This record gives sequence, C-alpha cells and structure tokens, in this order.
Amino acid sequence: MSRVLVIYYSKTGNTKKMAESIVEGIKKEDAEAVIKAVGDVDVNELLKYESIIIGSPTYYGTMAAEIKRLLDESVKFHGKLDGKVGAAFSSSANVGGGNETTILDILNAMLIHGMIIQGDPQGDHYGPVSIGEPDARSIKECVRLGSRVAKLVKRISD
Ligand SMILES: Cc1cc2nc3c(=O)[nH]c(=O)nc-3n(C[C@H](O)[C@H](O)[C@H](O)COP(=O)(O)O)c2cc1C
Repeated sequence: MSRVLVIYYSKTGNTKKMAESIVEGIKKEDAEAVIKAVGDVDVNELLKYESIIIGSPTYYGTMAAEIKRLLDESVKFHGKLDGKVGAAFSSSANVGGGNETTILDILNAMLIHGMIIQGDPQGDHYGPVSIGEPDARSIKECVRLGSRVAKLVKRISD
C-alpha cells in the first residue's frame, strides 16, 4: 500500500487543521497516511514513504524555521528521495501575505531532491492555502490535494 507522510509545523493550529484534511483526502483513496508535527519527525523516517507532504505557516513570506531545519537535515539523504512524490501547503494571515511563495520555497527543496511535484490546473495551483483558520474552501483544497497525491503515487507505483 502507498504510504504518505504529512508533516506540519503549526503554532496556532491553522496549518495542523489543513494537514488533517489532507490526510482525509489520502485515506479516501485507500492509501496510508501518517501525520506528524515536524518536531516529532526523525529525518531518517523520510526514506520510508513513497510521498512526503509538508505544510508550514507563512513566516515573512517563507516557511517557519522548524520546517527549514528538517529540509536542511535532509541533505543526509541527498539523492535518496529521488522519485518520491512531494507537495506543500501553507496558512498565512493575509491574502497576498506570501502563502504561495512559502509553498514554492518548500517545493524548491523537494525538486532539488529529485521529487515529483504535480501542479493543479483547477484547484489551488501550487498547493492548498488558507487565510487564518481554514474555511470550507481551503478544507476542500486540502482534501483534493491529499486525494490527488495518493492517486499519483498509485499511478507511479503500478
Ligand atoms: C513570525 C511570524 C511571521 C509571520 N509572517 C507572515 C507573513 O509574512 N504573511 C502573512 O500573511 N502572515 C504571516 N504570519 C501569520 C501566520 O502565517 C498565520 O497566522 C498562520 O495562519 C499561522 O498558522 P498556524 O496556526 O498553523 O501557526 C506570521 C506569523 C508569525 C508568528
């Protein structure tokens, strides 16, 4: 069965709620989802999953330091995450507050690892965003991402 690891950092719960909705979408496709706060992630775990999805609140237009730390530690496995499916999501306070730049910064690191990123022509193009607490629209986007990632992982591993 495809295994997807959903990692998040969240100080006030918004990004965590998004992560939980992404897990819902993954499970809808009968894939296995493991959700972890970044503080509970051991970098060695990254190898065990077919897909890694990372979420961060937008901090000054980019990811929180806790997420960056994990990505920096992942240099230990440079070349070994090649071909895994990646995705990212972010919660910000403001529209135009930098949530998409945050997502792109995370995806940038994933691309350098050789990971496979799928955009979305209909939904949030780079990955789900929320303004503050995720509303119904954001939750729908998160479920959609989880489902799309699970489907892609399945397609690749068949
Ligand atoms: C240090 C810091 C920097 C922030 N920078 C931004 C920012 O650049 N743009 C923005 O829209 N919101 C910014 N915010 C607000 C958070 O992104 C927003 O409150 C988010 O929903 C918090 O997510 P969380 O509940 O998962 O912690 C910042 C918050 C903090 C604490």
